[in-house]
Parts: sequence; structure tokens; C-alpha cells
Amino acid sequence: MIKKFISKKKISSIIKELGKKISEEYKNKNESEIIILSILKGSFIFVADLVREIQVPCKIDFLISSSYSGKTSTGKVKLEKEFKLDLKNKHILILEDIIDTGLSLNFIIAELKKKKPKSIQICTLLLKKNKHKFKYPIDFVGFEIEDEFVIGYGLDYNEEYRNLDYIGILK
Ligand code: IMP
Ligand code: MG
Repeated sequence: MIKKFISKKKISSIIKELGKKISEEYKNKNESEIIILSILKGSFIFVADLVREIQVPCKIDFLISSSYSGKTSTGKVKLEKEFKLDLKNKHILILEDIIDTGLSLNFIIAELKKKKPKSIQICTLLLKKNKHKFKYPIDFVGFEIEDEFVIGYGLDYNEEYRNLDYIGILK
């Protein structure tokens, strides 16, 4: 059973806000270019919507990581693709669908740091509060949520439900 949780309208208004904040942040830094790294698969819809609200020059690349089986993190994170763009001395903005334990991002950031970027900032649409073991500051958060398993708007349960235009709780 799916319980409606965050509507299409609420998602789109938070994305406009995030886009404004991110644009301001990088305009103030007076930087010419940022590299947006989208963590697939879950962030694909979020990224497509958010980048159209970002008003500073950017390049976009994708990473594929996986650690989940069903509703639980296996704790073992796999990166399934090498970075195509040169990240040295670049400002990186990571776009993630959801941070739960934070283990995936801890792993991804450790890998990214080896490429010597100038800065790494993080934007996540959803953050599960209380539970995360994430080691870094999270710069932009859409919604803080309780410890529930959510689906839709890119997020899946065993690859299903990504196509929902709202976020639901799977009961
Ligand atoms: P973490 O490593 O525990 O922070 O989880 C990272 C990834 O697991 C997220 O980027 C999602 O792709 C997936 N994930 C975590 N929680 C959920 C959820 O509630 N629904 C769907 N996917 C989730
Ligand atoms: Mg993900």
C-alpha cells in the first residue's frame, strides 16, 4: 500500500527554492563553473528538474552507486562508473535523492577527494533525520523526514515506483 506523502506541487516549490539558493551560493563565490554530479539512479528526476532552476554555468555528470537490497542498506557501496569530467580544481555539487545512513555518500566523497576538486558541496532532496552517519556538512536539504521507506519521484523499491510524480511511503 502506498500512502501519499509529498505532493508534486510541494516538490516543485522546494526545487525552485533549492535552485535559487544554489544559484546565489555560486554567484557569490564568483566561480565560473560548477560540476554537478548526479547519483543514479534515484536522483534522475530530481536532477532533471533542479538543473533547470540553477542559473549559473554548470556541467553535469552521473555516477551510479548501489547499496540497497529491498528496503535495507547492505552497507556495501558499489560505484559502477568512472567520472568522465576532469574534477581537478573544480567546484563539485553532488545531487542525491535521499540520505539515509549516509554510507553511500561517505564512500563517494572519499573517492571524489582523490580527484582534488576545489570544493565539494552536497544537495539532497530528502534527509532521514536521526539516523544518518554522514561525516560531512549537508549544504542544501529539500525535506527532512522521519525514518520511513519512501518511493516515487525517482526513488524505488526493488526498481519499481520510480515513475510516480509524488513521494509516497511504502507500507
Ligand atoms: P544511504 O547510503 O543509506 O544514505 O542510502 C543511499 C541510497 O539508498 C539513496 O541514495 C537511495 O538511492 C537509497 N535509499 C535510501 N533510503 C531510501 C528510501 O527510503 N527509499 C528508496 N531508496 C532509498
Ligand atoms: Mg541514491
